[in-house]
Amino acid sequence: MSALLLETRELDKHYGGLHVTRKVSLQLHAGDRLALIGPNGAGKTTLVNQISGTVAPSSGSVWLAGEDVTRRSQAQRVRAGLARTFQITTLAPHLPVQRQVELALFEREGLTHRAWRSIDGYPVLAAEAHSLLRDLGLGEHAGWPTERLAYGEQRLVEMALALALRPKVLLLDEPMAGVPQGDGARLLTALDALPDDLAVLIIEHDMDLVFRLARRIVVLAEGAVIADGTPDAIRNDPVVRGAYLGG
Ligand SMILES: Nc1ncnc2c1ncn2[C@@H]1O[C@H](COP(=O)(O)OP(=O)(O)OP(=O)(O)O)[C@@H](O)[C@H]1O
Ligand SMILES: [Mg+2]
Repeated sequence: MSALLLETRELDKHYGGLHVTRKVSLQLHAGDRLALIGPNGAGKTTLVNQISGTVAPSSGSVWLAGEDVTRRSQAQRVRAGLARTFQITTLAPHLPVQRQVELALFEREGLTHRAWRSIDGYPVLAAEAHSLLRDLGLGEHAGWPTERLAYGEQRLVEMALALALRPKVLLLDEPMAGVPQGDGARLLTALDALPDDLAVLIIEHDMDLVFRLARRIVVLAEGAVIADGTPDAIRNDPVVRGAYLGG
């Protein structure tokens, strides 16, 4: 049995009268590749926001490596091993790619109180940033301002930023969103190459990708988990076909 790294217990979220997640309980173990799927507005992003701490649940709890983090800040959750990327890109457009990754490493090392230009005094971190970018196929673009990269490459930079935190759990909210078909291959390669023991939860609408990547699939509809199983079980589940996959 691999270690239980992330657990949600009956996560409930209301916005006024709108019930967005309904007692969502799920578990993520080391090495998991879990896809979270469901129609637009099903509550997928809101669930990930509650896990990462950008949204407070109305009730229920979030556990990281056996610890209740429901009341912990985002930064504390990051330190406990949780990293995420966002559905919409959040990069600084003018900053060189390498600098963005260095800043993430700086943050991981608790060095952000130091002056910005002192990053140059940490060649080990610069080397780590470069090696992260190389692993993602971005080595040649390290010195470029982020805005000059293709959108698919920018999503890879976001993955580099998340991986820079050396997470145990990685949450990916639609990493392929907005990426032109032709640019998707490198993202796929990067997803395939993620560390084996990392627990990965990926929100994705592209079913080819979901069925290629996931070893388990959770289906959310109207805020509730309506199925949780292997890709084969999900593909053949009549309730899922009705709610989401279609005939
Ligand atoms: N801050 C908010 N205030 C009010 N309603 C919200 C808020 N955030 C999300 N919602 C609503 O909650 C519901 C679920 O939204 P959410 O973004 O979690 O869905 P999703 O499954 O991620 O959808 P998509 O596949 O389109 O990304 C939607 O009806 C949305 O309008
Ligand atoms: Mg979403």
